[in-house]
Amino acid sequence: MLIHSDAEAPEGFQSLATPVYRGSTVLFPEASAATDNWNQHEVGYTYGLYGTPTTLELAAKICELEKGFRTIITPGGQAAISLIHLALLKAGDHLLLPESIYGPNRMFSNSVLRRFGVEVSYYQPTIGAGIAAEFRPNTRLVWCESPGSITMEVQDVPAIADAAHQHGALVVIDNTWSSGIYLDAFVHGVDITMQALTKYIGGHSDLLLGSITVRDPKLFERLGETHHGIGSAASPDDCSLALRGMKTLAVRLKAVEASALVLAQWLSQRPEVELVLHPALPSCPGHQFWKRDFTGSSGLFSFVFQQNVNKQQVLAFIDALEFFEIGYSWGGVTSLAMTYDLQSPKRPAYGSRLVRLYTGLEDIDDLKADVEQALEKIKAT
Ligand SMILES: Cc1ncc(COP(=O)(O)O)c(C=O)c1O
Repeated sequence: MLIHSDAEAPEGFQSLATPVYRGSTVLFPEASAATDNWNQHEVGYTYGLYGTPTTLELAAKICELEKGFRTIITPGGQAAISLIHLALLKAGDHLLLPESIYGPNRMFSNSVLRRFGVEVSYYQPTIGAGIAAEFRPNTRLVWCESPGSITMEVQDVPAIADAAHQHGALVVIDNTWSSGIYLDAFVHGVDITMQALTKYIGGHSDLLLGSITVRDPKLFERLGETHHGIGSAASPDDCSLALRGMKTLAVRLKAVEASALVLAQWLSQRPEVELVLHPALPSCPGHQFWKRDFTGSSGLFSFVFQQNVNKQQVLAFIDALEFFEIGYSWGGVTSLAMTYDLQSPKRPAYGSRLVRLYTGLEDIDDLKADVEQALEKIKAT
């Protein structure tokens, strides 16, 4: 009775929330119906690893927003990145990444992909159509990330996509900053769009998920097969939180966009600040492409202190902030600050003077006052 019970709850419950369907084993009605096929869109549910109705509902909703054919949900944004690489590259292929790519994507490409015989090279994110000179006969995949991690360069994605397609290469974009909302990736020529759902879709800093969306059924087959082989299933519990997060995404995005714009404009007037790297401000490299291609901006931007501000003062500024917490990842309700040391000759010469801010849902006057008091404190350092 404990295992094979006839007890039942009353029927007829209807709620606004998607149920959390957990399950490894999926039951088949009869022996002849059993099949181990990952493509549950084609054959129905077969095994929990390939997604339960909770996972696949999240996938369908992301796919609808990004106007794709199919979306694959992964257990984190970085898992989406590595899955794209593993599904689409093989030994002897050449991969192009912008210098501004998310750090762990660079790390995976340099270590794992090179170990498997993939050639990896980097291009300046502001290169635009000039990327044509970077192609080799074996170039198969080009990444864009717009704006780029930390340094926020907005890329000329259509020009890069055009050049890539002329060379027979696929284009993938890390579309996390726009949350798949403010940049219509497929319209701008990309073949694959991925997001860390961890950020805005989750929206509360309490889950890790990623998504990969494609328009081409053949690409879905390649990605789906590799996803199956790697076995990286996303938790239905996390997917249910992401589905809940999606319902408030529009109001959250609007709020963080408004706060970030106020703060970025205010910072650009401060004497301690040399440069504000916010895509909606003309001081941001590639601002003209943001204006042309994006329909809004989000809550993450950077600024660079004047040359006379040293590393200790930058650290003291971050430590003096009270509302802005210190931590990685963003897109939640809490404002965050982080400093980065950019010492590579291939990156802009911001050195240790760059601070990245994420504006959360706190009152903007409180955030501004917080930054102001922290700026005052560094004078005493
Ligand atoms: C632009 C970007 N892409 C991908 C990721 C990876 O996401 P996750 O932390 O879910 O692995 C991050 C996380 O910081 C990110 O900022």
